[in-house]
Amino acid sequence: MCGIVGYIGKRQAAPILMAGLNRLEYRGYDSAGIAIAAKGALKIAKRKGRVRELDELKPLRFKGTSGIAHTRWATNGEPSDRNAHPHSDSTGRYAVVHNGIIENAAALRAQLAAQGTTFSSDTDTEVIAHLVALMDDGSPLEAVVSAVLKLVVGTYGIAVMDAERPDVLVVARNGSPVMLGLGDKETLFASDASALVRHATSVVHLDDGEIAVVRADGYETRKLDGTSTVKTPSAMIWKDESYDKGAFDHYMRKEIADQPEALRRTLSGRLEPRFQTTHLGGITLTARELLDVRRIRILGCGAAYIAGALGAHLIEQLARIPCQAEAASEFRYRNPVIEMDTLYIAVSQSGETFDTLAAVQEVKRKGGRVMGIVNVVGSTIARECGQGIYLHAGPEIAVVSTKTFTCSVVAMALLAVHLGRLRDLSNANGARLLRALDALPDRVAAILEREDEIARLAEFFQGAEHAFYVGRSAGYAIAMEGALKLKEISYLHAEAYPASELKHGPLALVTPETPTVIVLPRDDLLAKNVSTIEEVKARGGPVIAITHPGETHAPFDRSFEVPALEPELDPLLLNIPLQLLAYHVARQRGCDIDKPRNLAKSVTVE
Ligand code: F6R
Repeated sequence: MCGIVGYIGKRQAAPILMAGLNRLEYRGYDSAGIAIAAKGALKIAKRKGRVRELDELKPLRFKGTSGIAHTRWATNGEPSDRNAHPHSDSTGRYAVVHNGIIENAAALRAQLAAQGTTFSSDTDTEVIAHLVALMDDGSPLEAVVSAVLKLVVGTYGIAVMDAERPDVLVVARNGSPVMLGLGDKETLFASDASALVRHATSVVHLDDGEIAVVRADGYETRKLDGTSTVKTPSAMIWKDESYDKGAFDHYMRKEIADQPEALRRTLSGRLEPRFQTTHLGGITLTARELLDVRRIRILGCGAAYIAGALGAHLIEQLARIPCQAEAASEFRYRNPVIEMDTLYIAVSQSGETFDTLAAVQEVKRKGGRVMGIVNVVGSTIARECGQGIYLHAGPEIAVVSTKTFTCSVVAMALLAVHLGRLRDLSNANGARLLRALDALPDRVAAILEREDEIARLAEFFQGAEHAFYVGRSAGYAIAMEGALKLKEISYLHAEAYPASELKHGPLALVTPETPTVIVLPRDDLLAKNVSTIEEVKARGGPVIAITHPGETHAPFDRSFEVPALEPELDPLLLNIPLQLLAYHVARQRGCDIDKPRNLAKSVTVE
C-alpha cells in the first residue's frame, strides 16, 4: 500500500529509483513520482497512472546522486497528477514522500492556510512539506523533521529531502514500514526489500517512533526526542532474481508454480520422524506452557484469515484444542476478552497488515500471548510477536496471495502436529501426518502439471457474472479462498457459502447462468455434499466439482480430480486447482492479473 524508495550515493539516483518504483509498484499503482536533488534545486516528475507512464516524463534525464520516489495507492485525495507524490512546499525546496494517513491533516491545513500557505494538492502529505519549510531554522534536517512530526497525529513511513542539503535524506516511521539498505558507499531506503535487493547487502528495519538521517556513507537513527538508538543490520535474505517473473507471464502464475519449492522451504528441518512430531525452533513457549493452552484464536485478514480458518480445523482436529479464526480487522475493534490460557496466532504474509498488527498489539497490551505465522522475515508483525513460524515462501509480488496461503496452512499443520503430539495424537498418526507433509510438495507439483485441464474448466465461466463456491467444514474454507481469488482477479462476483446453508437463502439466486464450484473431499460429509449438488442441479445450475478420483454418483457437469493424500491435508490440495481456475478465468477475461483494480499488496492503513 504505497511504496517509497530513496537513494543517496555515488551513482545517478534516477535509474535506481525508477527500477525501485517498478519493484514497488505492487504496493500501489494509481500514480507515481520522483524527486532528484541537483545543483541546489529539486527536479520533480509525477503523474497519475503506472510507473511506465511516469517514464514518459523522462525522469531518467534528471542528474543527481540523491533522490526519493513514490508509487501511490490513494487514501487521501483522488488519484491525479496533482495528488501524486512527491509533494513540495511553495518554494519547491523540500520534497516529501509518504505512506500512511495523517489524521490531523485537516486541522494542520487550516492553520497553514490561515497563515497564507497555498496548497497545490488535496493530500494529507502536503502539510508536512509546508511545515518543514516553515520550521526550518537552520538546524540539522532530522531535527527539523522531528519537530514537524511531533505535530503530526497518524501513521507514516516518510522521507524528506532538501535541495540545499542534497548530502542527507531523512526518513521516519510510525506504523508504515521503512527499512534502510546498506551498500558500498551508498545507502537506500524503501518500504520493502524488493526495491533494495539489487544494491544492498544488509538491511536495517526502523521501529515506530524512529527517525534516520541517511548519508552515502551510513546512517544514524534516533527517537523523535533526539535520543540515539542502536540498530543491528541483518543480511539481505533473498536474491534479486527472486523478485523477477522469470519466464512466466504473471507473478501470480510464477508464485503458483513456486509452491512445491516454497513448501519444501516451509517444511525444511521441521519434520522430526524420530519422535513423530515437528520441530518449531521459532516458538519460545515451553512444552509445559503449550500444554497449558486451553484455547487458540487465529487472527489475520483476507486470505491470511482464510488460511487461519483452515489452520483452526487442523489444530482442533489434531490437537483437540478449541480453535477459531477471526478477521483481525473485526477482533481489534470489539474490545476482545483476552484470556491468559488462550494462545493467539497472527497470520500475515507481509507482516505489515495494519489491522493484524493492531490486533497483535491489543492482545499484548492486555497481557495475552501471541505468536506469528509470517512470511517476511524481520517484518513488523514478526518482530512484535517475537516468536512463531516463518514461512520462508520467498517474495510474493502478485497482489493476490497463493503460495503464502498454502505455506501458511502448512505452517499451522506443523503446529497442529506439534501440539497434538504434546497431547493425545498417537505415534502412528504423527508418523502418518509427517509422511503426508513430506509428500505434499510433490503432490502439488503433480497437480500443477495438469494446468491445461484446469484452463479448459475456466471456459465454464464464459457468460457468467456470478458464481457460488461451496463446501462443508474445511472444504468451506477452501471455497472461501477459491471465491476470494476469483473475485479479486477476474472481477466476477463469487460468493462462498457453507454448502449446508445454500438452501437457507442463496439457492434463490441459482440459475443456468450461475455456476457453482463445490469443494468435494471424499470425507464423511460426501453424501451431504452430493445432496447439495442435487439441489443446485434441480434449479438448473451448472456445477463443477473439485474432488478426488472415485465414483460419487453426484450429477455434477464437470470435475477436476486430485489424488487424495491424507484427509487432513486433502482440502489444501483441492485449493491448488482453484488458484489456477481463477487465474485462467481472469486471463480469458483480459484482466490485469498481478495488479487488480482497487487493490494493493500489504494494506498498511486502517
Ligand atoms: C488475497 C490477499 C489479501 C491478503 C490480506 C492480508 O489474495 O492477498 O486478502 O491476504 O491483505 O495480507 P497479509 O497476509 O500480508 O497480512
